[in-house]
Amino acid sequence: MTDAEALNRRLVDELTAAGALRDQWRAAFLAAPRHLFVPGVIWDDADGGVLSPRRRDEDPAAWLTTVYTNEAIVTQVDDGTTQDAGTGRRITSSISKPSIVATMLGHLEVEYGMRVLEIGAGTGWNAALLVYAVGEENVTTIEVDGDLAERARETLAGVGVSALVVTGDGADGYASGAPYDRVIATASVRAVPYQWVAQTRPGGVILTPWGNAYDNGALARLTVDGHGAAYGPFVDNTVAFMWVRAQRVPRPVVPADLAGAAESTTTLHPDAVAFDDHDATFAVGLRVPDVTTKFEDADDGGDDFTFWAFSGPSWARVDVIDGAGTHRVRQQGPRALWTEIEAAYRWWDETGRPPAGLFGLAVTPDRQYVYLGSPDSPVA
Ligand SMILES: C[S@@+](CC[C@H](N)C(=O)[O-])C[C@H]1O[C@@H](n2cnc3c(N)ncnc32)[C@H](O)[C@@H]1O
Repeated sequence: MTDAEALNRRLVDELTAAGALRDQWRAAFLAAPRHLFVPGVIWDDADGGVLSPRRRDEDPAAWLTTVYTNEAIVTQVDDGTTQDAGTGRRITSSISKPSIVATMLGHLEVEYGMRVLEIGAGTGWNAALLVYAVGEENVTTIEVDGDLAERARETLAGVGVSALVVTGDGADGYASGAPYDRVIATASVRAVPYQWVAQTRPGGVILTPWGNAYDNGALARLTVDGHGAAYGPFVDNTVAFMWVRAQRVPRPVVPADLAGAAESTTTLHPDAVAFDDHDATFAVGLRVPDVTTKFEDADDGGDDFTFWAFSGPSWARVDVIDGAGTHRVRQQGPRALWTEIEAAYRWWDETGRPPAGLFGLAVTPDRQYVYLGSPDSPVA
């Protein structure tokens, strides 16, 4: 057994023991080892949001250890515009964390012979795994980035797997191969492209990471009905995928000058609404459109939390001093963002703190909305 095979077997055993990898998928994970898909240059997250390249040739053993660690690996930065020697700013492609890949494939509930459309081919690893489960004539994967699509095609051919890799915008789906039994997105959406519903047969499933500017961690599992709509619950809210290109969220701009802001205080710690509890963050995000968050260590030993509306010139800053029960709030602009966030948190609290799994997503030809309990009870 080679080092790579041994490391892969250990990872597969870990994923199985953790309950992430169902028996149905074990053979696929063993047949399509991850190191055959990871490129020779990967990118490490260094300080201050800077990404630096790491080459397999420099330290093959370290590269292999990284490949068989249960973490996502950045495989492209800045849409490929940054050359190998430079540093990157934005993650634009990655090979997903193995436990998340396994969990998503479990939620997909495929059977041999089902037709599957994947959005976001990336390295081609997930497409290869799908081929082992449904058959190679049944997998189509779309990649928006031409270079990545070409590399995925070559990699799949190199390992003897023939899935159809389409270069294009996954938001359009791929009508020539429709109808599909399953659509799986490996990039996140703020709005589900309606073509995915239109190209899935009634009873078929759409599995997609879903989020908003505030919280991007949910996974929606929608079942398509016979009337052109799809409904279903959020089955996870701890995934974190990059956005599909056309739905990217701008990075927050922290205001340099806080003069003139309205001042108040709060006893609600920003951690409670934005970091500590995935269910709270998910629920608050539903009620505060287009708001992103940024957290920084402050000079005074405390923490600064900035909330920023990218749709207009509104921001809120909450300064937390360690151990203090009351925190200073400054807000400016047409939207009082901290006030909105407190109201959203109160709503979630008074509704009985429902977990994200009690919410669902409806996608109809006319609108999309989030509901609580049943599609008759829209909440956002
Ligand atoms: C997390 S990576 C996918 C990982 C991939 N499934 C794998 O196994 O390596 C997300 C991918 O989605 C692609 N992407 C982003 N927007 C897209 C779009 N509109 N259509 C198709 N692919 C898109 C990105 O270029 C990126 O390669």
